[in-house]
Amino acid sequence: ATDIADQLSTVLVTEEQIHAKLEELAEQVAADYDGSELLLVGVLKGAVMVMADFSRRLPRHISMDWMAVSSYGAGTKSSGVVQIRKDLDTDLTGKHVLIVEDIIDSGLTLSWLLENFASRGAESVEVLALLRKPEAAKVEIDCRYVGFDIPNDFVVGYGLDYAEKYRNLRDVAVLAPHIYS
Ligand code: PRP
Ligand code: MN
Ligand code: MG
Repeated sequence: ATDIADQLSTVLVTEEQIHAKLEELAEQVAADYDGSELLLVGVLKGAVMVMADFSRRLPRHISMDWMAVSSYGAGTKSSGVVQIRKDLDTDLTGKHVLIVEDIIDSGLTLSWLLENFASRGAESVEVLALLRKPEAAKVEIDCRYVGFDIPNDFVVGYGLDYAEKYRNLRDVAVLAPHIYS
């Protein structure tokens, strides 16, 4: 039970695939924001790996800030009730903001965040998400940069947790059902 491999069903996205995709997305973002200041906002804690690997592929200066919100707690379903655990340090007035997320599942977290940001006077707000689960959407999120659309399985790794575990896995993998059922 301590062997991580026994707790996973399949690897869904490998570290290599993630890095290749982030390279592509970084080129797009660099081109799209050419000449503008850019603030990356990472959503703690899931987005730490994406932020680290994506931001280092941008061949330009950016600013970085973090917001900590949580809607899942220790379960496998989004509660829809989003709590701010840490707010931004940055005033968004006039800024071009790119929210960096690990995954859009139900979409509730980002829908809440986008509404929250709308009142802060940003010049633009876009979203980059490494993963998206189209079948799980409860609200549609206008996400400009998407890494991979994945099936509606509970996935962990590369920042994604189950009860705070598995975030440090290098790949994104499907959690074996016996772990959470
Ligand atoms: C997870 C994930 C996204 C969000 C997506 O965060 O990192 O932020 O859920 O789910 P949704 O689209 O259904 O809202 P979580 O609330 O588990 O906090 P964490 O990032 O600290 O793990
Ligand atoms: Mn998260
Ligand atoms: Mg989580």
